[in-house]
Amino acid sequence: MKHIVVLTGAGMSAESGIKTFRDADGLWEGHDVMEVATPEGFKRNPELVLNFYNARRKQLNEVEPNQAHKDLARLENNYKVSIITQNVDDLHERAGSSNVIHLHGELRKIRSTKNENDIKVWTEDIHLGDNCESGYQLRPHIVWFGEAVPMIDKAVEICQQADILVIIGTSMQVYPAAGLLDFAPTQTPIYYIDPKPAMDKNGKVHIIAESATEGVKTLLHLLENATQN
Ligand code: APR
Repeated sequence: MKHIVVLTGAGMSAESGIKTFRDADGLWEGHDVMEVATPEGFKRNPELVLNFYNARRKQLNEVEPNQAHKDLARLENNYKVSIITQNVDDLHERAGSSNVIHLHGELRKIRSTKNENDIKVWTEDIHLGDNCESGYQLRPHIVWFGEAVPMIDKAVEICQQADILVIIGTSMQVYPAAGLLDFAPTQTPIYYIDPKPAMDKNGKVHIIAESATEGVKTLLHLLENATQN
């Protein structure tokens, strides 16, 4: 079975009703990203940051995987599929994908501010004063700007094994995620689905300038034709 590696960003979940980061004047759900997605922002105003993620987690219960999430899950019938997502939602998992790596953390999990490996399932709102068992403040299990990306080594290893690489709905501005495509073997075809594609790597990338739901359909046709030829 060929191995398809899919790198997804916020545009993947846009048609499920979750806003992207950079389509709204640098504001994320009305907030400056630096205010709610940095360790400094958390230090300055922890209550605001906790409330922000409490709201993001609640929003997850009101949205559903879109057709593109579902179509990617169905690809597993014919391919080995690895999904590397920058998204903190769980829509790939809920659509049925079985191999999902979250580069930037997960909204369904919390962790201790003291020990990044002390991670638990997140079920209720957290507030200032809610502590882990060792007595340290709890925070969302989200990788903020300026923090290490623990899953990046695993993601690099997966990209090195890609027979086909697909990039969906990301502005390719945030590293190290944006550098992952450079680890795919040189002969590996790269498809990039995004209505406003941000790069073409000197024409080496097959651009599908469509939304995720339309673009994944187009991709499936292209893959089908490629196997028939
Ligand atoms: N279908 C596909 N792509 C879409 C759609 C859609 N319906 N709507 C918008 N897009 C595209 C935009 O054109 C843009 O290229 O999704 C991309 C979203 O880009 P960003 O908002 O920058 O999101 P992303 O690339 O995932 O951001 C990376 O930055 O803020 C941090 O940690 C956060 O994981 C995030 C990272």
